[in-house]
Amino acid sequence: MSELVFGIDFGTTYSTVAVCEGGGAARVVEGAGGDRVTPSVVYYAQDGSRVVGEHAISRGVLEPDRTITGIKRLIGRAFDTRVVQDFAKTIPYAIEPDDQRYCVVRVGDRRHPPGEIATAIFSELRDRAKAATGASVITAVITAPAHFGAAERRGIHAAATRAEIDVLRVLTEPTAASVAYGARAKAGERVLIFDLGGGTLDVTVLRIDEDVHEILAVGGHPLLGGLDFDNALCEELESQILVQTGLNVRDQPVAHRRLLLTTEQIKRELSDVAHVDRTLPQLLEGKDVRLTYTRAALEMRISRLVDRAIEIAQNVLRDSGIHKQELDRLLLVGGSTRVPLVRRRLEEEFGKILSHAVHPQEAVALGAAQFAATLGTSRAMRLLDVLPASVGIADSQGRMISLIKRNSTLPCEGSFEIEFGGQESRQLVVFQGEQEFVDDNEAIGMVNLLVDNDPVERALVTVRADGEGMVTVSAFDAAKGRVLRTQFSLRVAQRLSAWAR
Ligand SMILES: Nc1ncnc2c1ncn2[C@@H]1O[C@H](COP(=O)(O)OP(=O)(O)OP(=O)(O)O)[C@@H](O)[C@H]1O
Ligand SMILES: [Mg+2]
Repeated sequence: MSELVFGIDFGTTYSTVAVCEGGGAARVVEGAGGDRVTPSVVYYAQDGSRVVGEHAISRGVLEPDRTITGIKRLIGRAFDTRVVQDFAKTIPYAIEPDDQRYCVVRVGDRRHPPGEIATAIFSELRDRAKAATGASVITAVITAPAHFGAAERRGIHAAATRAEIDVLRVLTEPTAASVAYGARAKAGERVLIFDLGGGTLDVTVLRIDEDVHEILAVGGHPLLGGLDFDNALCEELESQILVQTGLNVRDQPVAHRRLLLTTEQIKRELSDVAHVDRTLPQLLEGKDVRLTYTRAALEMRISRLVDRAIEIAQNVLRDSGIHKQELDRLLLVGGSTRVPLVRRRLEEEFGKILSHAVHPQEAVALGAAQFAATLGTSRAMRLLDVLPASVGIADSQGRMISLIKRNSTLPCEGSFEIEFGGQESRQLVVFQGEQEFVDDNEAIGMVNLLVDNDPVERALVTVRADGEGMVTVSAFDAAKGRVLRTQFSLRVAQRLSAWAR
C-alpha cells in the first residue's frame, strides 16, 4: 500500500484536512456528508461529553456559554494580554486565568485549557482522515500562522500530538499556501501572500525558485479576521433590533448567538449581492425581527479593519526589501479575501497583481499535505522560513536585549555571557517581541541554569530558534569546557517578567 501523509490546517473558524497519496497531487479529505471543512467549534454538554464541528454549532445554539469558538486565539497566551482581553469581550463563554496566569475556559464547574479544546478539534480531524482513507495512523504536517511565536506554535504541536497525530512538522500557513501554488510560479517569482482568515491576518513576502521557497519577511495580526468583520456587522444589526423592538439583544445570550450565526451568513452573501433582507422569527420575547443590510454599510463598518490589514501588508513588504513595482504576484488566501472591499483596497494599493491561483480556504491544508509527501524524499523542498519576532532577554533596567532579530532566516541563534557571581543556579526569562521594555513583550520561557556543585564564574548562553521557529536555550562554561545543565520551561505568564530581572 502506498503511504498516506496528511496536511492539517487548524483554523480559527474552520479546519481542513488534505491527503497526499504516493506522492501524487494532494486532495481535500471530505466528511461523511461531503463537507470539505470542519467548523473549529466544540460544545460541552452538561454530562461532560463533547461534540465537535457542525453538530457543535447546532447543539450549542441554545447554550452559547457551553459552545467554544475561536479557541486558536487563546492557545499559548497569557490571560493578562491585550489580545486575550479584547477577545474576551466578543465571546459568550467564560475565560479566566489558571494558576500560571494562562487562559482557561470555564464551562459550568469544569475548566478546559485551550490546548485540550484544540485537541478535541484535532481528534475530530484525525477521525475524519481515518474514516475517509482507512489509514490507521495519521502522520501529518500541521500549520500555524507565520506571526505565531514559539509558545503558540508549541501549543498547537502539543494539541495535535495529544490527539495521537504523528506531527512531522509545523509549517507556517502562508508558506503552506506558497507550496500549493509553487509549481505555477516562474523562476525567481516574488510573491506577497495575503492570508486573511477567520481569526488572523498573516502576511508573508517570499521568493520562489523551483523547490526553494525563501521567506523574506513575515507579519500579521492575531485579532484581525472574519470574526472581527462579523462583530462589526453584528453591532449594526443590534442597533436595528433595538430600534424595532426596544430590546437589547446582547442581554439575551441565546438570541445573540442566533444573531451572530445569521450575521456571518449575511456577510458572506454580501460578497455576491449588494443587499440582503432576513427575518429572524421569534428572536426576542416572541417577536420576529426583520434585518436589512447593504454591502455599502458593511464596507463602512469594516473599512478601518481593512485599512489596518493593508497597512500591515505594506510594512511586511517594506521589511522584505522588495519594492512594490518588483512584486510579481499577490496571492489571496483565507476566506475573508472574498470580501470585495478587501480585494478592491489591495488592488488600489498593489496594482493588478492579485491572484486567485489557489483555493482561499483549501490551499493551506493542500500545501501542507504536499510538503509532507516530499519530506525525506529526493524531491524535498527547501523552505527558508524566518523568525516572526525578535527573541531576547532583559537587562538590569528591564530593557529588551534582542539576541536574535525578527525576520532572521531560520534556523538562527544568538549568544550572550552571563555572570554567576558564586551562585549555584541562575534563572532567565526569554522574551519575544519588538518593544523597548520586556514587560511590553511576551515571555516565552524560563531557563534554569544549574551548575551542580561545581561553581562557574560565567557561562555563554545561546538561544536558538530551529527550522520551525521553536526556541531552545543552552549554556556553555568555556573555562571548564563543559555544557551546563539547563531546564527550559515554556509556560511563563507575562506578569512574571517583573521579578525575573
Ligand atoms: N464568501 C465569503 N465572503 C466573506 N467572508 C467569507 C466568505 N467565505 C468565507 N468567509 C469568511 O472567511 C472566514 C474563514 O476563512 P478561513 O477558513 O480561511 O479561516 P480560518 O482558517 O478558520 O482562520 P485563520 O486562518 O485566521 O485561523 C470566516 O470568517 C468566514 O466568514
Ligand atoms: Mg486559515
